[in-house]
Amino acid sequence: MQNYQDLLSEILIDSEKLQARVKELGAQISADYPDGDLLLICILRGGVPFMVDLSRSITVPHKMDFMAVSSYGVGARESTGSARVTLDLQMDIRGMQVLLVEDIVDSGHTISSVLNMLKTRNPKTLKVCALLDKPERREAHVPVDYLGFTIPNKFVFGYGLDLDEYYRNLPFVGVVDLEKYQPPT
Ligand code: IMP
Ligand code: MG
Repeated sequence: MQNYQDLLSEILIDSEKLQARVKELGAQISADYPDGDLLLICILRGGVPFMVDLSRSITVPHKMDFMAVSSYGVGARESTGSARVTLDLQMDIRGMQVLLVEDIVDSGHTISSVLNMLKTRNPKTLKVCALLDKPERREAHVPVDYLGFTIPNKFVFGYGLDLDEYYRNLPFVGVVDLEKYQPPT
């Protein structure tokens, strides 16, 4: 894999801005769930860095669980429509106040299928927290209750978002220069 410096066309959201916004979201969520009893569900793998930081800035007691869905074929960068659960939750969410934590809402298909699936399990409440939103690409309506940033229609990486599974670790969100990218063979 190439160095990220060779692929980065611009830093869209630097680490300081990300951390400040995550703290604000954490404070807002803490105020909205004063009794705790909150379950954060991280959508693997892109939601991991965001959820870890968010969780540390939430001051009310909460649980965490994880699920994985695939809506992109392996190696693809476009959503195909409906998401398939590849790793299910460990917890029973019946009666829980659930907050889904996702890296980005793009077409909206991933979150929309996850929401439909989780609703059938009768949580007490079900809300969505997304770090990024690319509204220009939306195909399925998704209610985003907590949002970090709205971004333009560009392919981004870092802070959970991957380029062919690499670079989720970058502390910022950057725009990929896809013309300079040589996909691994
Ligand atoms: P949706 O189903 O089209 O909303 O796709 C959401 C998923 O697509 C996210 O969880 C990401 O994994 C992936 N995705 C969408 N846009 C980007 C991007 O710009 N960079 C990296 N991953 C992205
Ligand atoms: Mg992805």
